[in-house]
Amino acid sequence: MKVAVIGCGTIANGQHIPAYMANEKAEIKYFCDILPERAEAAVAKYGCGIAVTDYKEVLADPEVEAVSVCTPNRMHSIITIDALKAGKNVLCEKPAARIYEEALAMQQAQHESGKVLNIGVVNRFDLAVNEIKHLIDAGELGEVYQVYVSFRSHRSIPGLGGAFTTKDIAGGGVLIDWGVHFLDIVMFCCGDPKAKTVSAEKFSKLGNPIEDYVYTSMWAGPPVTDGISDVEEGITGMVRTEGPIITFNGAWAQNIGENEMFIDFIGTKGGIRLQYGKDFTLYSTKNGALTKTEFTFPANQKFQTEINSFIECIETGKKSPAHIDTNIITARMMDAIYRSAEEHREIVLEA
Ligand SMILES: NC(=O)c1ccc[n+]([C@@H]2O[C@H](COP(=O)([O-])OP(=O)(O)OC[C@H]3O[C@@H](n4cnc5c(N)ncnc54)[C@H](O)[C@@H]3O)[C@@H](O)[C@H]2O)c1
Repeated sequence: MKVAVIGCGTIANGQHIPAYMANEKAEIKYFCDILPERAEAAVAKYGCGIAVTDYKEVLADPEVEAVSVCTPNRMHSIITIDALKAGKNVLCEKPAARIYEEALAMQQAQHESGKVLNIGVVNRFDLAVNEIKHLIDAGELGEVYQVYVSFRSHRSIPGLGGAFTTKDIAGGGVLIDWGVHFLDIVMFCCGDPKAKTVSAEKFSKLGNPIEDYVYTSMWAGPPVTDGISDVEEGITGMVRTEGPIITFNGAWAQNIGENEMFIDFIGTKGGIRLQYGKDFTLYSTKNGALTKTEFTFPANQKFQTEINSFIECIETGKKSPAHIDTNIITARMMDAIYRSAEEHREIVLEA
C-alpha cells in the first residue's frame, strides 16, 4: 500500500515514518513538507520515497492510498478534507482540528467519501489504557462516578511565542495540546459518554509577557520574544457527562514544583490512578482488607499499533476506536470547555 507523510517534523520522524517503515504492507511513496530540506532529509534518511513541497501533488497520484497528516493544527482540516475528497484514507494527528466546526467538516467529508479517517489519539492503542478500559467494562471498579484529570507541569510552555502559543495556528494552548490526550483516555475508558454541562476557566499568567518567563529548558524550539502568546497555559473545570463527572486541572506552567500527570478513575468498588504514558495502580478491597495492585506493562508500541490499525482499517473496513466519529465527542466537549472559559459561565449542551 503506497502511503505519504505530509509534514515531516517531530511526530512524523519520531513515530509515523518509523512505524510505516516497520509495517510490511506499507510503502512510503512521498515525504511532503513545505520546507523542502525536511522532505529531502527524510528521503535521504529512510532511503525511499519522493520529496515534495505541495501536498496536492501527493493527492493527485492515484497510486497513493493513504496519508498521514503531521502538520501543525491549522492545516489539519484543510489537508484532511482535500485528501478525503481525492479518495485517500487519512490518519490525522491530534487534535482533529483547531475548532469544533473544522472537526465537524472533517467528519462530514469522511461520511461523504466513505474513506477511513482516524485521528492520532494514540493512547487508544496503549496497553495500560486498554487494560483500564477492560477492568471498567468488567465491573472491577463498580460504578465509575468521578474522574479527576491532572496534566500539570512546573515550567513547560512549548516554544513560547511560536506555533504552539499562537491561537491561529494551534487553536488553543495546553487543553488542545495535552488535555486532548488526557480527556480522550477518559472518554475511551468510560465508553465515550457525551458531555451534558461544562464549566471552566483558563489562565495565562507565567508566560505573559514572554520576556518575564523563567524556565530551565524549552521544548518545541527556543522562545520567540517578539512572537505571539495568545493561548491558555492553564485551564481548570468540570464536565458533567452521561457517565462520570470529570474534573480537570491542566497547565503547561504552574508554580507546583513536581509535574502532576495522571488520571484518577474513581469507582464504588475500586479506583485506578494511571500515571500518564506509564503504568497504573488499582486500589480496592477484598474480604475486609484494603488492596493495592500494581499493573506494569512491557515497552509501549502504541504508535506502531496505531499505524498498523490504520492500515488494517483501510484493508478490512473495520472501524477503529480512533475514528473521527468517536473523536468528535471529545472535540465537542473541548469546544464547550473553551466557550465556558471565555464566557465565564456554564455551558449546557443539547442532548
Ligand atoms: N500524538 C502525539 O502524541 C503528538 C506528539 C507531538 C505532536 N503531535 C501533533 O502532530 C502535529 C505536528 O506536530 P510536530 O511537533 O511534529 O510539529 P513540527 O513543527 O515539528 O512539524 C510539522 C511539520 O509540518 C510542516 N508543514 C506545515 N505546513 C505544511 C503544509 N501545508 N504541507 C506540508 N507540510 C507542512 C512544517 O514545515 C513542519 O516540518 C501537531 O498537530 C501536533 O499536535 C502529536
